[in-house]
Amino acid sequence: MSKVKVSRKAHFNAAHRLYRADWSDSENDRVFGKCNNPYFHGHNYDLVVSVTGEIDSETGFVMDMKVLKSLIKNEIEDVLDHKNLNIEVPEFKDLNPTAENIAVVIWNKLRLHIDASKELEVVLYETPRNFVSYSG
Ligand code: NI
Repeated sequence: MSKVKVSRKAHFNAAHRLYRADWSDSENDRVFGKCNNPYFHGHNYDLVVSVTGEIDSETGFVMDMKVLKSLIKNEIEDVLDHKNLNIEVPEFKDLNPTAENIAVVIWNKLRLHIDASKELEVVLYETPRNFVSYSG
């Protein structure tokens, strides 16, 4: 049997602010710097979702890419694109919307809809040079 990783790229824009309400202004500034701007700031996030599993002998697919495409659109892009993550996305009400935490939230949302026999990996680019990976 051949295990193959298939990947789909996606994209969304979102605004956020990194801070802790239980920290002083100076502590927030020291740790989060410009990301602590109280008026928020935006990023163009690039997302790579990968699914690894056996090739289905009938279809030749690991996963139907049409299904993966619509899953990412419905579960991720429609939920995060053009949103203020701190204010509009419930998962970040009490969770700092760092790239790390966003990747985990995305992974958790997708995991529910992908066959348990397959491995899931999320790579999230916050900038072209800064990216994080999460595989559960
Ligand atoms: Ni930022």
